[in-house]
Amino acid sequence: MSQLRGDYKSVWTALSGTKEEAYMVVSGYTDEDKFLADAEDTLDILRETVGIRASDVFLEIGCGVGRVGRVLSPFVQEWIGCDVSPNMLRIAQRRLLGLPNVRLQEISGYDLQPIADNSVDAVYTTVVFMHLEEWDRYTYVREAMRVLKPGGRFYCDNVDLASAKGWAVFEESRTLFKPQERPAQISKCSTQPELEAFLKHAGYAEVRVAGRLDFWAYAWGVKPR
Ligand SMILES: C[S@@+](CC[C@H](N)C(=O)[O-])C[C@H]1O[C@@H](n2cnc3c(N)ncnc32)[C@H](O)[C@@H]1O
Repeated sequence: MSQLRGDYKSVWTALSGTKEEAYMVVSGYTDEDKFLADAEDTLDILRETVGIRASDVFLEIGCGVGRVGRVLSPFVQEWIGCDVSPNMLRIAQRRLLGLPNVRLQEISGYDLQPIADNSVDAVYTTVVFMHLEEWDRYTYVREAMRVLKPGGRFYCDNVDLASAKGWAVFEESRTLFKPQERPAQISKCSTQPELEAFLKHAGYAEVRVAGRLDFWAYAWGVKPR
């Protein structure tokens, strides 16, 4: 029987059995140098949106093998990587060995339950929302609000259906797979208005949205003080 998209733990644990499989599903390649270069790009986006401060406790939802954590952790007080897949976290642990301010946390796939209320300065999630159902995206936007300190910042992104390259992703998936044969983790796009609605309904202030590279939609906001 095919796997249910919403059974995230079983789907993503199966996809990340080996380091190579995990790298491929995270980025589509296994070249460590390109991996690091791409992570620097993500860092730039975080700097431009939520900002990165030396005193920050940062939390990533769906951290994978720690692609971003490895380059972000030297700039912050603590980096907490959360992921649904214990396999991803095992590989992340090896990749991040020796970094003193890194903590990894397995989560259910539906919440940030082990993380205390009002305890982190910034939460972000990147290259993850496309793999979630819309309701679960919104639940994470709300969970981020719970764990953020007042004044804390949140960032999320997804492939933008309203961009030319995002539309190409949509069309490719539509034509490549029969409805009964779609992989559980297949990418499903968002739009800037969707992300904006999620942040506003969750109660964020200073909500901003933007697009990038004719492909990405992203949104960020601040937990009111
Ligand atoms: C494409 S990878 C991106 C990893 C990382 N954010 C990066 O940019 O390198 C998607 C990650 O999200 C995780 N994931 C999938 N569904 C999840 C869920 N419901 N909750 C938390 N993590 C999830 C997967 O295990 C995987 O590590």
